Amino acid sequence: MQNIHKKIVKRLLLGWLSLSLLIGGAVLYLKMGQVDQQMLDLAVKESRHFTVELDRSSASQMKILQQKADAFLKGHFMVLELYDEHKKQIFRGISPGGEAIEQKFAQYPHPFPLTNGTYHKNFIIGQMVFMQVLLPLQDKSGELLGYFEGVYKVDAETLHNIQIDIIRTLFLVVAVILITAIMLYPIIISLNRGLIKLTSDLLKGNVELMDVLGSAIAKRDSDTNSHNYRVTIYAIRLAEVLGLSSAQIRDLIAGAFLHDVGKIGIRDNILLKPGKLSDEEFAVMRDHVLLGVDIISKSKWLAGARDVVEFHHEKFDGSGYMKGLKGNEIPLNARIFAIVDVFDALTSKRPYKEPFGFQQAMDMLQRGSGSHFDPELLLTFSGIVSSLYQEASHADDGALAALLNQLVGKHFFNG
Ligand code: C2E
Ligand code: SIN
Ligand code: SIN
Ligand code: FE
Repeated sequence: MQNIHKKIVKRLLLGWLSLSLLIGGAVLYLKMGQVDQQMLDLAVKESRHFTVELDRSSASQMKILQQKADAFLKGHFMVLELYDEHKKQIFRGISPGGEAIEQKFAQYPHPFPLTNGTYHKNFIIGQMVFMQVLLPLQDKSGELLGYFEGVYKVDAETLHNIQIDIIRTLFLVVAVILITAIMLYPIIISLNRGLIKLTSDLLKGNVELMDVLGSAIAKRDSDTNSHNYRVTIYAIRLAEVLGLSSAQIRDLIAGAFLHDVGKIGIRDNILLKPGKLSDEEFAVMRDHVLLGVDIISKSKWLAGARDVVEFHHEKFDGSGYMKGLKGNEIPLNARIFAIVDVFDALTSKRPYKEPFGFQQAMDMLQRGSGSHFDPELLLTFSGIVSSLYQEASHADDGALAALLNQLVGKHFFNG
C-alpha cells in the first residue's frame, strides 16, 4: 500500500514535470514569436519616421540624411546604413560606442527585402538584445528609393518587462498543471483503493475456491480436510526453508490444495476399498492424475497448480507415473510435494491402512531417498520434519485452518 502511494506520487510528479516542460516550451516559443513581432513593430515604426521624408530630388540630400541619422543614432538605433536602389551603400552612421556592435553585424551577410517586405534578425550580445532591421525605402508615390538598415537596441526596460511577462506566464502554466496533478491524486488513490479491494476479494475468492475444491475430494476418503491442510502447510514450510519465491510458493499452495482433485472421478469401491488394491484397481486409481489435470486445465486461475497435480506421483529414479520423468525433469514443486504427500499419507489413517509412527514413517521415506524422492530435498525436509510434525500432526481442523490461513495470507496477500 505504501508503495502504491509512492508510485502514484512519482507518476504524477513525472507527469507534472514533462507537461510543464512540454507546455512551458510551447508557451515560451509562442511568447518569443510574439515578443519578436512586438520588437519588430517598434523598430519598424521608428524607422518609418526616417523614411517618409526621404526625397531623391534634394540636392542636399546627404546633409539632411546626416542630420536625421545623427538624431536617430541618439535614440534606439546603434547603427544605421542606407543603400540606393542598386543596393550600393550611400551612408553609414554609428552611434558612439556602437562600433563593436557594428563589427559583429558586419560578419553576417543579410538579404535585401522585396518592396513592402522587411528583414529582421535578433542578436543577443552580452546581456543586450539587438534587432537588425532592413526595410525598402519608398517615395510618396511608392517608387523604390533604396534601403534602410538599422540595428535597433531593445532598451533595458522593454527587455525587463518582456522577461517578467514570460516568467509570469510560465509560472502560471506550471502552477495550473501542478494543481491539476494535486487534484488528481485523491481521485487516483480512491479508484486504486477500489481496485485493490476488488483484486484482493477476487484473490480471496480464488483461494477459497481452491480450498473448497480440494477439501471436497479430501472429504470423500477421510472425514476431514486435515490431509489437504497438513500437506499444504508442510509444503509451504519446506519451500520457505528452500528459499523459494512467493510466486513459486503460490503455485505450490494451489498444487497442494488440488493435488488429488482427480480422485473425484474414482469410484467409491476403489477409492474407499479397505484393503490393498489389485493391479487393475490401482491402474484405475492412477487415472486420478489425468483426471486432475483435466479438471484444473479448465481454469486459468488454477494453471499454477499443474506441476503438482500432474507430477506428484513421479519418482526421482523415473519409476513413477504418469510420465516416468526422472530427477530434475520432475518440476521442483512436484518433487517437494511428493515428499510431504507421502509423509502425511504414512502418518495418517487411510481407509486401507492405519497410521505409521513418526520414526517408522521417516525410515520409509529415507528408504525412498534417490529412488522415490529427491535426496537433497529429503535431507532438507528431514531437518524440519519433527517440528512440522509437532505443529500439525495432532492439530484439529480449526487450528490447521488458522495456521494455513496465516501462511497463505503471507504468500498471496503480502507480495
Ligand atoms: P494416498 O493415500 O494419499 O497416498 C499417497 C502416496 O503415499 C501413495 O501414492 C504412496 O506413495 C504413499 N503411501 C500411502 N500409504 C502408503 C503405505 O502404506 N506404504 C507406502 N510405502 N507408501 C504409502 P500411490 O501409491 O501412488 O497411491 C495413490 C493413491 O492411491 C493413494 O493416495 C490412495 O488413495 C490410493 N491407494 C494406494 N494404495 C492403496 C491401497 O492399497 N488401497 C486403497 N484403498 N487405496 C490405495
Ligand atoms: C485424505 O486422506 O485426507 C484425502 C486423501 C487425499 O486427498 O490425497
Ligand atoms: C508412490 O508412487 O507415491 C507410491 C510408492 C511408494 O510408496 O514409494
Ligand atoms: Fe495423488
